[in-house]
Amino acid sequence: MTEQGSLQAGNNLDPWYSHYAERAGGLRASEVRALFAVASRPEVVSLAGGMPFVAALPQDLVIGAMDTVMREQGAVALQYGSGQGVPELREQILEVMALEGITANADDVVVTTGSQHALELVSKLFLDPGDVVISEGPSYVTAMVIFKSYQAEVEHVPMDEHGLIPEALREHIARVKASGKTIKFLYTIPSFHNPAGVTLSWERRVEILQIAQENEILVLEDNPYGLLYFDRPAPDAIRSLDEDGVVYLGTFSKTLAPGFRVGWALAPHAIREKLVLANEAAVLSPSSFSQLVISEYLKTADWKGQINTFRGVYHERKNAMISALGEYLPELTWTNPNGGFYVWVTLPERLDSKAMLPRAVKELVAYTPGTAFFADGDGHQNMRLSFCYPTPENIRLGIRRLATVIRGELDLLDTFAGTGSLDALRDGQRFAAPPPNIS
Ligand SMILES: Cc1ncc(COP(=O)(O)O)c(C=O)c1O
Repeated sequence: MTEQGSLQAGNNLDPWYSHYAERAGGLRASEVRALFAVASRPEVVSLAGGMPFVAALPQDLVIGAMDTVMREQGAVALQYGSGQGVPELREQILEVMALEGITANADDVVVTTGSQHALELVSKLFLDPGDVVISEGPSYVTAMVIFKSYQAEVEHVPMDEHGLIPEALREHIARVKASGKTIKFLYTIPSFHNPAGVTLSWERRVEILQIAQENEILVLEDNPYGLLYFDRPAPDAIRSLDEDGVVYLGTFSKTLAPGFRVGWALAPHAIREKLVLANEAAVLSPSSFSQLVISEYLKTADWKGQINTFRGVYHERKNAMISALGEYLPELTWTNPNGGFYVWVTLPERLDSKAMLPRAVKELVAYTPGTAFFADGDGHQNMRLSFCYPTPENIRLGIRRLATVIRGELDLLDTFAGTGSLDALRDGQRFAAPPPNIS
């Protein structure tokens, strides 16, 4: 280890610091990841992570499916399988996608180890260093970690309450093209966005696809939450409009359980072939066991009824969060999602969600600072609140604690305004009571 290497690392704990590939620089622990450690302390109300409430899934349903699979196809379930995924499950995935207007051929579905792995494979196929990925601002934090690990640049396009703004997308594309950079794809989460909670309108889906087509930009449509609507379904998927220019990603993580780690990509035929090769190179085959259990579950259980159960649970929790925000923090603004897991909150201009986090943890409430969801350091005035996991009572408690934190922070600002001593005070506070594992 060179002295310079250890100095650049900022610590001397890793003797291999100077050996890493350049792309490993994009792999940094996100705020979300660090927060999972905090969230696991029972006294903290975590509005930070995005864990599905799997307790709403009767375990008997899963045990029954596992039992049948092992009795009837045990040797297949325990064996390596196809790099593209179990054929019967790929057929069943077509039924799931049909609920959002998609017609497709099972031959164009590739089963992956969660949709997270599909994001990785698509990035591996398309991204060279210096390429540009356009995404909404804010965007899904762990997708951006992947894009950056392939040394791509993430360019954000703003949203409003109807999702990505088409005129802003046009301007952005023109600007990136004028700079001589190559845009490889548009990454979008059109329904019940993570983290913004908004849904792209049907008119905008049509227009955004048209813009992508005019500019020969592939659309990467990531749709984990589409079926988890509250009052009315989301508009049909962008993929329902075009089978040649869209790679669509789906998952069983939110409509069944993330522990199976089963998701999929639906891709234009030529891309599909390359995805299978990349999947085989990465994992040989996705888990045969998980796929067969899910296939059996879809065949024998009332899976649509189970999705309705999840919808009911999340709807109740969303209502609890929105009404608690109205009651305890009426001076803030927030999105009111019609599905999914997340509310995006905007703080008064003077507040900084990242700087405020240690105080929040001290008050036993955790959230994710908005900065986690921007590649360019934006988002200080925002936070993501998740309503998927805590009970409605705990959500109310968490928002009440958050109100105490925000009032306290505003008081501090009033007291020390203009003295320049607030940052020093915050640093001192952090030093005196360091929150566990928050970086
Ligand atoms: C927008 C988005 N995409 C992808 C994923 C990954 O899901 P999984 O790999 O469990 O399918 C998540 C998980 O939270 C997500 O929110």
